[in-house]
Amino acid sequence: MILTVEAADSGLKGELFPPGDKSISHRALIFSSLAVGESELSGLLESEDTLATLGACEQLGAGVERRGGKIYITGTGGVFKPPLDGHLDMGNSGTAMRLLAGVLSGQGFDCTLSGDESLNNRPMGRIVVPLTSMGADITPSGAGTAPLFIQAVNSLHGIEYVSPVASAQIKSCVLLAGLFATGTTCVAEPRLSRDHTERMLPLFGVDMVSPCCVKGGSTLKATSFAVPGDISSAVFMLAAAAMTPGSDVIVRRVGLNPTRTGFLRCLEAMGADVSIMNQSADNSEPVGDIHLVYSDDLKAIDVPESLIPDMIDELPLLMALAVTASGVTRVRGAAELRVKESDRLAVMATGLSTLGVELKEYPDGIDVSGGPVSGGYVESAGDHRCAMSFCVLGLVASARVHINDAEFIATSYPGFNEDLTRLGADLGESS
Ligand code: S3P
Repeated sequence: MILTVEAADSGLKGELFPPGDKSISHRALIFSSLAVGESELSGLLESEDTLATLGACEQLGAGVERRGGKIYITGTGGVFKPPLDGHLDMGNSGTAMRLLAGVLSGQGFDCTLSGDESLNNRPMGRIVVPLTSMGADITPSGAGTAPLFIQAVNSLHGIEYVSPVASAQIKSCVLLAGLFATGTTCVAEPRLSRDHTERMLPLFGVDMVSPCCVKGGSTLKATSFAVPGDISSAVFMLAAAAMTPGSDVIVRRVGLNPTRTGFLRCLEAMGADVSIMNQSADNSEPVGDIHLVYSDDLKAIDVPESLIPDMIDELPLLMALAVTASGVTRVRGAAELRVKESDRLAVMATGLSTLGVELKEYPDGIDVSGGPVSGGYVESAGDHRCAMSFCVLGLVASARVHINDAEFIATSYPGFNEDLTRLGADLGESS
């Protein structure tokens, strides 16, 4: 599907509730499916990615019921049943695949995990290595990618894993396998990645013996969980407002976990008029409303490397935002972007160049110069976050911007077009 964006002729205005947090929704579904009893989940994201997880959980034996806008999951008490044909399809979702691979490695039956073309090209060695050292029998396809072939083993044993990458998917995969291992399993990482797993497991009754360690044999207990709005979706509306003269936008009840707020810190450093209101905490996750009022003096920044894990999914959007700031914005230490749903450094560099933006691509980053944006056709390469980033930038282009593969936006933000349109943007879709 092609998404076409018209330049905005006035500011974006209004307020909205972004969809539920994707990372937290995956975890809420998986943990509820492992628990004893019925969990009540509200605010869950129902996008293609999280529906892949929900479908897998059902095939693995969890009961799913919808009542009054909530989803009720009857857990399996930690004992999954083998899927009918021994196979689970994780679609486009790396989180679904990597987290479930951790659980399934300790379940005692054979199972194959596969995904779409993009997911089947993403590196899985990063979870195969620690899972194998726990005693799992897990084989990636030839290139170290999915499909993953998991064979039953008698038992797993706990490990102390020092991850070479700050990755919440690796960390969560190993911790989840640790729940089915003997002894204790701990994960250390070079920088703290999003810590939703560590915050949520205790709500399901798991004793985290230290901040990033679990004991094998822990039983999860059903709970009630309200998923906060996804900051990784909300930022598109905020960036659209930060770029479009005359805008004034509020996004409500957004998750403000500090391991996810790097983009807000960049907005502030660039001089955007952004403020947080009504802060509270829901189920161990901080939430609040974010208000952004357009100001016409955004300045380029050097993004501190220490912030990269806290905004890993927002870097394509930051590159788009940087085009509207004066000066050169520099991103380094972001080589992980090359192994996301697409090679995000290459896809953004190519698309931005097509729109006349001056930039220089590096192996682990990019320099983006502020300046005018022309119209044109850009390739989002099946990557939802690149597609949404180009769309937002189209609001300030001198002519229409057309973005291909826009159907992938539904993997994370099914109501994106509607939300941006409600704020005043003019979008069109064609096949
Ligand atoms: C996620 C972790 C991050 C992030 C992804 C969601 C998670 O991936 O990019 O969108 O829910 O754990 P990595 O763990 O590969 O950094």
